Amino acid sequence: MANESVNIVDKRTNASYDLPISKGTIRAMDLRQIKANADDFGLMTYDPAFMNTASCQSAITFIDGDKGILRYRGYSIEDLAEKCTFLEVAYLILFGELPTTVQLTQWVNEITHHTMIHETTKKFLEGFSFNAHPMGMYISTVAALSTIYPDARNISDPATRRLQICRLIGKVPTIAAYTYRHSLGYPYVYPDNELSYTENFMNMLWRMVEPKYQANAVLARALDILFILHADHEQNCSANVMRAVGSSQADPYVCTAAAAAALSGPLHGGANEEVLRMLDEIGSKERILAFLENVKAGRGKLMGFGHRIYKNYDPRARIIKWAADRVFEVTGRNPKLEIALELERIALADEYFIKRKLYPNVDFYSGIIYQAMGFKPEMFTVLFAIPRTVGWLAQWQEMLADPEQKISRPRQIYTGHELRKFVPIEKRTAEAVVG
Ligand code: ACO
Repeated sequence: MANESVNIVDKRTNASYDLPISKGTIRAMDLRQIKANADDFGLMTYDPAFMNTASCQSAITFIDGDKGILRYRGYSIEDLAEKCTFLEVAYLILFGELPTTVQLTQWVNEITHHTMIHETTKKFLEGFSFNAHPMGMYISTVAALSTIYPDARNISDPATRRLQICRLIGKVPTIAAYTYRHSLGYPYVYPDNELSYTENFMNMLWRMVEPKYQANAVLARALDILFILHADHEQNCSANVMRAVGSSQADPYVCTAAAAAALSGPLHGGANEEVLRMLDEIGSKERILAFLENVKAGRGKLMGFGHRIYKNYDPRARIIKWAADRVFEVTGRNPKLEIALELERIALADEYFIKRKLYPNVDFYSGIIYQAMGFKPEMFTVLFAIPRTVGWLAQWQEMLADPEQKISRPRQIYTGHELRKFVPIEKRTAEAVVG
């Protein structure tokens, strides 16, 4: 609507300000003119954890958290999960439009020819202990790619950017599979360019002595769908890190490693691993009520539940449940599913969870599928990081192209000491050290 504005009266000075409203927001910088006196710095907003602050304008992913809607570039997640391959969706997310047949063939070819990793990267991985967490190995190895491709620093060149994007999307499954093989002490399996993205990933994970790996088509498709669901999720914690690190003009490998580090935490992508540990801890349906009583008393969280944006069902969780049924037809039912279903049923009827609008998120059921497919829980967050690389790179590109973006640098409200007189060491007394 034209001429929308909000009027603010500063009661300190009785001055009145009209601040324009655009797309449901006011610009924080417009507040700076509101001053108590001429020396005043001007009004700022205080918003720890970005509860009500838009950090960018983005055309990639749309979420309506109240209605449980997720769309990539305007297409519903349900349509994309049903009708597309992961690389088709990756193209959409990165370039804004669904590819034509010719564009898709070229794109798949481009990605497929970047799946090999440099032999020194293999040696780098060998330096890790066998019980190293795969996510730690994954993050470090993605960062290490920066040393192999110094051209990646040239972030202002679109052709160079596109090359790094293809390298990253091509190589992350290889790195992920190698962290898995390393932890088992198995030899690494080289990529097979005749296979699809997910089939090749499965080949690098699970091929043993057979000359050609044959992926189970149902499992390969389920993995493809899981990758589609995890590909982007607008300004989440890791996307925000990708943009923040990228805003300093660091190369995309270290940016992606930083984003993956953010993903690894248990409140973000690391939750899928924690869900499995929680289900193990609960152990049987009879113990669910006691577990939930502990959660409600503030002793721990129901992992895989709750979301900053979704205050209705997470649409990805619904599709994952559907995919789980297909997977279990091949693998047999994961016994943890019974506990998870009952846990969900009881929690969704409980006043504590209803009042706080806590619903299952993407991580609640994904681990159960991954485990049925043969993955160890430590691999779950790595499986999340592979497809999310697409979203991170799209967010990075969009940030670089946005003339309004600058180096990411929030303000603070300083709460420490005023200027203090320096105390020489011989005159200092022991006091509690802060921080
Ligand atoms: N179990 C129990 N209580 C919860 C949970 C949970 N999983 N999640 C939120 N709550 C409670 C909080 O304790 C708080 O209660 P209070 O109002 O009495 O203090 C209330 O619900 C609001 O929660 P916040 O922590 O303020 O919500 P926020 O938006 O900051 O956090 C988050 C969202 C981090 C996802 C949170 O729900 C959580 O920790 N969930 C479990 C971890 C998880 O599954 N993470 C994956 C998220 S999806 C993803 O990142 C891919």
